[in-house]
Amino acid sequence: MRIVSNKIGAGGATPPATIKVWDPFVRIFHWSLVALFVVAYATGDEIERVHVAAGYAIAGLLGARIIWGLVGPQHARFANFVRPPREILAYLRDIAMLRAPRFIGHNPAGGAMIVALLVALVGTCATGYMMTTDAYCGSKLIEHVHEFLANLTVGLVVAHVIGVLIASFEHRENLVASMISGRKRAAE
Ligand code: HEM
Ligand code: HEM
Repeated sequence: MRIVSNKIGAGGATPPATIKVWDPFVRIFHWSLVALFVVAYATGDEIERVHVAAGYAIAGLLGARIIWGLVGPQHARFANFVRPPREILAYLRDIAMLRAPRFIGHNPAGGAMIVALLVALVGTCATGYMMTTDAYCGSKLIEHVHEFLANLTVGLVVAHVIGVLIASFEHRENLVASMISGRKRAAE
C-alpha cells in the first residue's frame, strides 16, 4: 500500500511569509504622535491654543501607551523590549560591527530609545502644563526647561529615525512599512 503524505503545514496551510507584530493601537499611537509632535513643535512660539491642544493630545497618547505597555500584546509590552544597560551596550557594539541579530519586536537599542522618547515627551508635556498653572505661569525657568526638553526630543527623534534606517538596511527589511502594515518577515 502506498502512503501518500499531503501534510503541508499546520492546518494544511503553507506557513505565512510575514507575521503580525505591531497591533493597531501601537500603529495609530505612533503616527498620531508623529503628526501631533510636528504640530506642537511648530506652534510652540505662537498659536498657543493649537499648541496646548496638540500638547494635551500628546499627553493623552502617552498615558494610553504607558497603560498599553503594561497590559497590551507581547510586542507592545515594556517587559518585551526594556533591557538592562549591559545588553543595550552590547547590542550597540554589535550594530557597529555589522553583526547585530534581527529582532521581531523592538531590538534592545530601539527599546532604550523608546523609553528615552517617552520620558522626554512626558517631561515636555508636564512642564508645558506647569506653565498654564497659576503657580508657574510666567516662570522663565520652567519655560526654558520646556523648550530644552522639546529640543532634546527633536534630537532623540533624529537619532531614532537614523536607528530605524540602519536596522532596515542591516536586515534588509522596511521597518517604516512594518509600522504602517503591522507585519514583518517571519524568517531570518
Ligand atoms: C517620520 C519619522 C519617523 C519614522 C520613519 C519612525 C519610524 C518608526 C519605526 C519604524 C518604529 C518601529 C521601530 C522598530 O521596528 O523597532 C518606530 C517606533 C517608535 N517611534 Fe518612531 N518614527 C518617526 C518619528 C517618530 C517621532 C516624531 C516620535 C516621537 C516624538 C517617535 C516615537 C516612536 C515611539 C515611541 C516608538 C515605539 C512604538 C511603540 O512600541 O509604541 N517616532 N518609529
Ligand atoms: C510634546 C509636546 C510639546 C512640545 C514639543 C512643545 C514645544 C514647545 C516649544 C518648542 C515652545 C516654544 C518655547 C519658547 O520659544 O519659549 C513651547 C511653548 C509653550 N508650550 Fe509647549 N510643547 C509641548 C507640550 C505642551 C503642553 C502639554 C502644554 C500645556 C498644557 C504646553 C504649553 C506651552 C506654553 C504655554 C508655551 C508658551 C511659552 C511662552 O512662550 O510663553 N506645551 N512648547
